[in-house]
Order: sequence, then structure tokens, then C-alpha cells
Amino acid sequence: MTIRAVVRGVGHYLPERVVENAEFEATLETTDEWIRARTGIERRHVAAEGQTTSMLAVEAAKAALVDAGLTADDLDTIVVATSTPDLTFPSVGTMVQAGLGMHHGFAYDIQAVCAGFVYALTNANGLILSGQAKRVMVIGAETFSRLMDWEDRGTCVLFGDGAGALILEAQEGEGTSADRGILSTDLNSDGRHRDLLYVDGGVSSNGETGKLRMQGNAVFRHAVSKLAETAHTALEKAGLGADDVDWIVPHQANLRIISATAEKMGLTMDKVVVTVQDHGNTSAASIPLALSVGKARGQIKEGDLLVTEAIGGGLAWGSVVLRW
Ligand code: UT7
Repeated sequence: MTIRAVVRGVGHYLPERVVENAEFEATLETTDEWIRARTGIERRHVAAEGQTTSMLAVEAAKAALVDAGLTADDLDTIVVATSTPDLTFPSVGTMVQAGLGMHHGFAYDIQAVCAGFVYALTNANGLILSGQAKRVMVIGAETFSRLMDWEDRGTCVLFGDGAGALILEAQEGEGTSADRGILSTDLNSDGRHRDLLYVDGGVSSNGETGKLRMQGNAVFRHAVSKLAETAHTALEKAGLGADDVDWIVPHQANLRIISATAEKMGLTMDKVVVTVQDHGNTSAASIPLALSVGKARGQIKEGDLLVTEAIGGGLAWGSVVLRW
């Protein structure tokens, strides 16, 4: 008998306001055609004034609880992956805890930028396997619109806001790759690349929130080489290969990165859940959003083998293999 962290429910929330690519044509030297061709992005959601990351996270968490047929009383822990917290502290996790009316257990944040959800899933898996928690709400929630330099066409057209949530539950498995739940994880980072993707402000540097800065081209090259590698490593750890994969659920940054990664893995695009056209890059929220949308579309079904992979600022990257 082996304990596995099994998906019990999933949900998401997107802010009401949708910004189409064409809106940028009024203020920037860019076109809908360029954005679509270079990124696959067609639109993104943007949080309303006063709408914070924890508010998006609470809505996603409520949707996941409904999907699971559970209430907040049934949770032990909340882990939120975010790089855009409401405040420097307390954590978004504790704000979600209060927002759900949960007065027990513990909640906290994880910050690994676009790789945040993969890190949070790995962390939650550890809590479950070590017996510290039986049910964990894992959330990716971001308001990256707050970090945009709206005059930088190389970044501001790429990002969007949103939240997704997954409930993991301890269940008994056989200890084989046929089990439902998280089967393997692979995390990596290399701090030498901090200047490729960062925010030029912070509490202990200049006391400002700052704006996102990115050398897109260099990040692109790292992404294409590192994502297929981490996915392959995670599959190998689970004793599986690319042939076993039903769905790649990638971080949604750029359709060209997504398709290049699938190709390197030897898989065709009909095995990839793609939401980047409607959400843009929502950083740590993009994978749980894609999981929730993929399930709602009827793509992801119980028993399917999923590989998630993500890379972002740090650089930090990784992959999780799970059977839905
Ligand atoms: O989620 C975290 C990880 N982040 C990513 O994965 C993002 C990775 N990077 C990318 O997705 C791509 O590098 C971008 C979409 C950011 C850029 O695409 P690219 O094909 O790498 O273009 P580039 O940066 O090489 O720029 C090509 C040209 C440049 O003009 P010049 O210097 O050749 O005259 C840019 O100034 O495209 C220009 N450009 C634009 N043109 C129209 C950059 N942004 C825009 C724009 N509209 N919005």
C-alpha cells in the first residue's frame, strides 16, 4: 500500500474584463497579427481596480470545493503559488483561508514565478506523503497586469490575470504507475539567470513594487531546451515514457514554446491542453487554469496520464507527472 496525492477537485476564476490584442494597437507599435503569430495569444483577462490576487484565488478555491463536493472544513492546508501577493505580508494563503471561512489548519505562499504551480504541487505532495496533511488546496493565482510597463510592447502584451485551484487528497494506491495521483516530480533552478526575467523593484531593494523586465528571446531559448528535458526526467522517475502520456498541460507562455516542447517530446498537438489564446501568460495560475478548462472541455478524464511543465523567473523550472 502506498499513499498518493490524488486530485479530488479543480476550479478556476477569470476576471470579467477581457482585453483583445487589437486594444494594444491604439497605444503601442504592435498589431494583433504580430501578437498572434509570435505568441499564439489572442486575448487576456485583466483584474478590475481593487480586485486583488486573493480575491481571484478565493473564487477559484470555491469552484474547486464545489467540484470536489467538499467544504473548507474538509481541508487541512492551503498552498498558494503567486508572485503578485495583495500585500508583502501576510500571505495570500492566509487571506484565502479567511475568505473561505476556514479557521483551522495552516496556509502559506510559494514563490517560484511561472514555475510556481509545479513547485506548489510538489510541496503539497510532500505534505501528503509525510502525513502532515490529508487534503491540500493548491492554488495558482496572479495579477501580473499590476507588474506591467504598459509602454514595453515586448512584455505588456504577453501577460494576464487569473486563478486556478486543485484539491489534492491522500488516497491509497498500489505503488505502481497505474495509480491515480502524483507519480513523480522534478524541480530545477539556476540563479545565475536572474537578469533574464525579473521585477525591478522590491521591499529590501528600492521599496517599490517595480515592473517586469524580460529578455524574451533568451528566456525562449532556455524554455525550449529545459522544458522537454524536465518532462522527460519526471516521466523517467515514474517509470513511464512519452507514449504513455494522454495530455501535456504546459505553462501557457507562448504557443511556439508549447509546440516546440511537444515536438521534442515526440508528441503531437492533439495531446496538449492549450489555453494561451484566451488567457495569455498568467504565470503560476496558467497550469491550474488549463487543468480546469481542460476538464470542462472534456479533454482531461479520470485515469488520464498528465505531464505538467513550466519555466519562469529565477530561472526556475520543473515538471509533475500525475494520473488524473
Ligand atoms: O512565463 C515566463 C517565461 N516567459 C516566456 O516564456 C516568454 C519567452 N519569450 C517569448 O515568448 C518571446 O521571446 C517573445 C514573444 C517575448 C518575443 O518573440 P521573439 O520571436 O523572441 O521576438 P524578439 O524578442 O526576437 O523580437 C523580434 C522583434 C524585435 O524587433 P527588432 O529588434 O527585430 O526590430 C522586437 O522589438 O519584434 C519586436 N517586438 C514586437 N513587435 C511588435 C517585440 N514585441 C513586439 C510587439 N509587437 N508586441
